[in-house]
Amino acid sequence: MSLVYDYSNPTAIHFGKGQIASIVKHLNKDNKILVVYGGGSIKKNGVYDEVSSVLDGFNWIEFSGIEANPSYETLNKAVALSKAEKIDYILAVGGGSVIDGAKYIAAASLYDGDAWDFLDGSVTVEKALPLGAILTLPATGSESNGNSVVSKKETNEKRFFASPLVYPVFAVLDPSVMSTLSDRQLANGLVDAFVHTCEQYLTCPNTSLLHDGYAETILRGLLSLAQTWDNRKDAIWEENLMLLANQALNGFIGSGVTQDWATHMIGHELTGFYGVDHAQSLAVVQPQLLRVMMEDKKEKLALMGENVFGIKDDNEAVIIAIEKMYESVGVTTNLNDYENVDDKVIETIIPSLKAHGMTAIGENQNITLEVSEKILKMAM
Ligand code: NZQ
Ligand code: ZN
Repeated sequence: MSLVYDYSNPTAIHFGKGQIASIVKHLNKDNKILVVYGGGSIKKNGVYDEVSSVLDGFNWIEFSGIEANPSYETLNKAVALSKAEKIDYILAVGGGSVIDGAKYIAAASLYDGDAWDFLDGSVTVEKALPLGAILTLPATGSESNGNSVVSKKETNEKRFFASPLVYPVFAVLDPSVMSTLSDRQLANGLVDAFVHTCEQYLTCPNTSLLHDGYAETILRGLLSLAQTWDNRKDAIWEENLMLLANQALNGFIGSGVTQDWATHMIGHELTGFYGVDHAQSLAVVQPQLLRVMMEDKKEKLALMGENVFGIKDDNEAVIIAIEKMYESVGVTTNLNDYENVDDKVIETIIPSLKAHGMTAIGENQNITLEVSEKILKMAM
């Protein structure tokens, strides 16, 4: 089947050491800027000081405390500030959570209703303030995509919205800011980027040599970073993770091809209820999902085996290789390894998937609630 797609990625990328200074090309002194960040890592590693000095002479205020898996409750405080101060530009400095949070703030600042409406899908974003991003943790691709994932603490819901209006206008990708990342966050980034690529590649065969080849390059790159995990403090290793994670979810490899995203939908529920990190949730769900859906994915699993792992005619061996890769960087593939996961996983997650309309997911819409239950049972 021939490809048909629309693709646009408007985010200007400033890549490399020293690029934080480039943000001034996009801002002007008439802007009233809200700088948003997380729990303080940027204060410890000098990024806050660098941003402050670059913004000297600009009109800016700040909002801190956006948590990992950003909450609706915290973000609404930033929205109130943004509205009261008549902010007209949001600058996110952080990982996926801060950037996703900034997208919510950008859209909610110009919305009169309860902005959870964007997350439950009842309202489409029609306006948003412009935003820019200074990335400090390569993983999600949020720095140059239009997605935002927000959690509501009150109900343990973790939902997403997507809009072309919340692509960052610019993103700074300076790998030197990664030196303070923990092993856990580096491994999370590697696993998240790997799964993003799989969600757009590991579906049904397509005719594009470019899309498959591009995705395989990303997958091989991430595998190689896992194999050279001992070098993770080297600048070149960090630079490669930042490059690969960005390309894994900037929209291109998914354009015009069948996508899956079921691992993410089930994983979001696990994070919503049990607080496991985003990438950790993916590492427990994905291998079992691949086993259960092996027949649907057999051609692409075989292609991945051959072109990424060097495995021929053995799809189970490909799945084992993926598991070994995650485990090799310290991310477990067994849900029981997480302390706060109780024996009520099925009775908690399955009704929530149902409530969120996730009753027929996957590239063939055949991952029903029964199939999700089977996947979760196998992950325990
Ligand atoms: O809050 P601070 O103090 O900054 O600490 C953060 C946070 O605790 C820390 N960190 C970030 N940069 C650092 C650093 N620590 C030291 N040095 C640095 N340079 O890392 C911790 C985790 O940060 P977070 O932003 O939560 O991680 P990540 O980038 O993995 O983002 C995860 C969020 O993104 C969503 C996930 O669901 C989750 O909510 N996703 C967003 C997507 C998108 N927008 O397209 C797609 C993904 O599939 C994902 O769902
Ligand atoms: Zn992800």
